Amino acid sequence: MQNTIPNTFRMKVRARVMEEYHSVEELRMLLEKYRGEEILAIGAGSNLLFRGDYDGVVLHSAMRRARALDENGDEVLIEAESGLVMDELIAQLCDMGLWGLENLSHIPGEVGASAVQNVGAYGVEAKDAIVRVKTIAIADGQERVFENAECRYGYRDSIFKNELKGQYIVTSVVYRLWKTPHPVLDYGHLRAATGDTPTPNQVREAVMQIRKQKLPEVSEIGSAGSFFKNPIVPREVYERIAAAYDKVPHFEQDGGVKIPAAWLIEQCGWKGKRLGGAQVYEKQPLVIVNADQATPEDVMTLAEQICQSVREKFGISISPEVNYI
Ligand code: EPU
Repeated sequence: MQNTIPNTFRMKVRARVMEEYHSVEELRMLLEKYRGEEILAIGAGSNLLFRGDYDGVVLHSAMRRARALDENGDEVLIEAESGLVMDELIAQLCDMGLWGLENLSHIPGEVGASAVQNVGAYGVEAKDAIVRVKTIAIADGQERVFENAECRYGYRDSIFKNELKGQYIVTSVVYRLWKTPHPVLDYGHLRAATGDTPTPNQVREAVMQIRKQKLPEVSEIGSAGSFFKNPIVPREVYERIAAAYDKVPHFEQDGGVKIPAAWLIEQCGWKGKRLGGAQVYEKQPLVIVNADQATPEDVMTLAEQICQSVREKFGISISPEVNYI
């Protein structure tokens, strides 16, 4: 189908115009060509839900190189272009014995989008390794480099999703990796699977095993990974819930208490529930899957009903981490 927009939800959606660029120069030419039109830069579409066809210009990076920039003692700086599949980069880095991104193994998506979304898993977020993000301004094609602090990273969040939304296109990301062991193994059962002194590839293997048990393979069943963010609530809210329920899973975070949205959704009885072609994933209810030709409407209605029942039962608002387009 012409102008089909790639998306891991496997929705059949099209763009009015869809273009790929192979260099920064080509990107600048495309921005010039489509000046004044609505522009959307996408990666692999692994965190997007299109409400329908997109009446604008979709741009996708086909720049996929990575290179070592600098070595300084224990640190190595690697610059990766935006269209490189994140997991391909991580596989290479682990093979080189470099530490820093191994916990993010097998996350779907490309380098550019992962720096916008600040993807995270098993105690590590992209921001922990990102040194700077190189971008091109949609308005005038000028390069602007954002140092880590300027990206205002937060949980699945950055300046590129807020104040500067839709204004810059990421062209490459510079990461800091380590040559000596820097394992992060305290999330869940990770350490039990790796022991205390693993190699980066052993951590990668363990992470991939855990993910395979819990999360749907986007190559087999459509989804956008976690559909919702985990809410961080004031301590009083957690205590009110803890008084009423046995063993509420929780983690201290950012001065509040994080309660897994998966637990809240499960308590509301949504595991495995279906609406049209959309379904709450049985093994991890934080994920909505395209079980059978789901429409965007099916997914959005199911998501809204889940939010509503969590709000009614617990008085907590959960919000999508998936971006609606
Ligand atoms: N839980 C349940 N029922 C379930 C599954 C989980 O109650 O069926 C509870 C358990 O208490 C469990 C807790 O939820 O201990 C946490 O579950 P899990 O370790 O699977 O992590 P998560 O908080 O549900 C987050 C990320 C995932 C990431 C994992 C591991 C978000 C929105 N999601 O999920 O990221 O892989 O942690 O770090 O923060 C993604 O963003 O697409 C994604 C998959």
